[in-house]
Amino acid sequence: MLEGKRVLVIGGAGFVGSHVVDQLTAEPVSEILVLDDFVRGTRRNLSDAARDGRVRIVEGTIRDTDLLRRVMGGVDYVFHLAALWLHECVEHPRAALEVNVVGTYNVVEAAHQAGVEKVVYSSSASVYGDAVFTPMTEDHPFNNRTFYGATKIAGEQFLRAFHEQHGLQYVGLRYMNIYGPRMDDRGAYVSVIMKVLDRLERGQPPVIHGDGTQSYDFIHVEDVARANILALESEATDDFFNVGTGIKTSINELTELLLRITGSDLRPAYRPNEQMFVTHRVGGTEKADRMLGFRARTPLEEGLRSVVDWRQDQQGPS
Ligand SMILES: NC(=O)c1ccc[n+]([C@@H]2O[C@H](COP(=O)([O-])OP(=O)(O)OC[C@H]3O[C@@H](n4cnc5c(N)ncnc54)[C@H](O)[C@@H]3O)[C@@H](O)[C@H]2O)c1
Repeated sequence: MLEGKRVLVIGGAGFVGSHVVDQLTAEPVSEILVLDDFVRGTRRNLSDAARDGRVRIVEGTIRDTDLLRRVMGGVDYVFHLAALWLHECVEHPRAALEVNVVGTYNVVEAAHQAGVEKVVYSSSASVYGDAVFTPMTEDHPFNNRTFYGATKIAGEQFLRAFHEQHGLQYVGLRYMNIYGPRMDDRGAYVSVIMKVLDRLERGQPPVIHGDGTQSYDFIHVEDVARANILALESEATDDFFNVGTGIKTSINELTELLLRITGSDLRPAYRPNEQMFVTHRVGGTEKADRMLGFRARTPLEEGLRSVVDWRQDQQGPS
């Protein structure tokens, strides 16, 4: 299905997007276009992929409709991952509105006008907010109370409306908490991984905010990238899927794993809670398994090791 196709990855220099690009280089596509304005993504994330002659990087923003029209011309498939992150949405809601809402509208409109065959949209489990029931299945209500979640719901609804009105084919993926190589320390919920590792490197005890029982579904970025490609290749359209492991891990358990992996005998220090948007979340995985053939493969301990190894590579030989 991907043979000879031209694929556009919007937000492709970011954490997840760069792994999607990496995995696309293993496919028989004819061209992989990356559109990113580098507010958060980096060229370094694409340094391996950029050696592949089929990868072309365009620096620009999804707020620019003329650019989008040009870039989208002749493209068969679009992965849309560009967004401002949760904390940006708290501090700069208008900027987030411009990117996540208006920018996403621009992407949807341009994809329709260019006759794109399918769009895979990065949504978020944030649309669910605090769980009304667990595991949260895709028909869990939008219990979201954050601006970030609001922007993700808007994107989902734009796609659905364009499908209804114009037959635009799309799938929306609602990610749980993603970690892995190229993550930074600004991600909500997962930033604890980088912060704990930073402190361990300095010989300081890891800090846990609250009692550490808050728990999340941590999924490795390579699994998420694979879910994107499976979503594109599947027959599914006009539908939404959780992308998670279905396993809940507490911050205490996560910290213990990091201490074990790094061989540290430091003990965590507990501090008062910081702002927590959501404290317990796990998504149902059955629908993605059944309809996309997606099942997360990377066990948490192995995945965390990949983060530790990647950090060491970044630092170079000591
Ligand atoms: N990381 C997670 O745990 C997580 C969880 C749920 C949902 N998501 C969603 O998945 C997607 C990818 O997340 P990520 O963690 O890779 O984030 P990221 O910030 O690393 O990637 C987003 C990319 O979009 C780019 N970008 C931002 N604004 C842009 C604009 N106006 N025009 C063009 N490019 C722009 C950034 O430079 C960045 O490279 C996002 O839509 C995010 O909301 C992520």
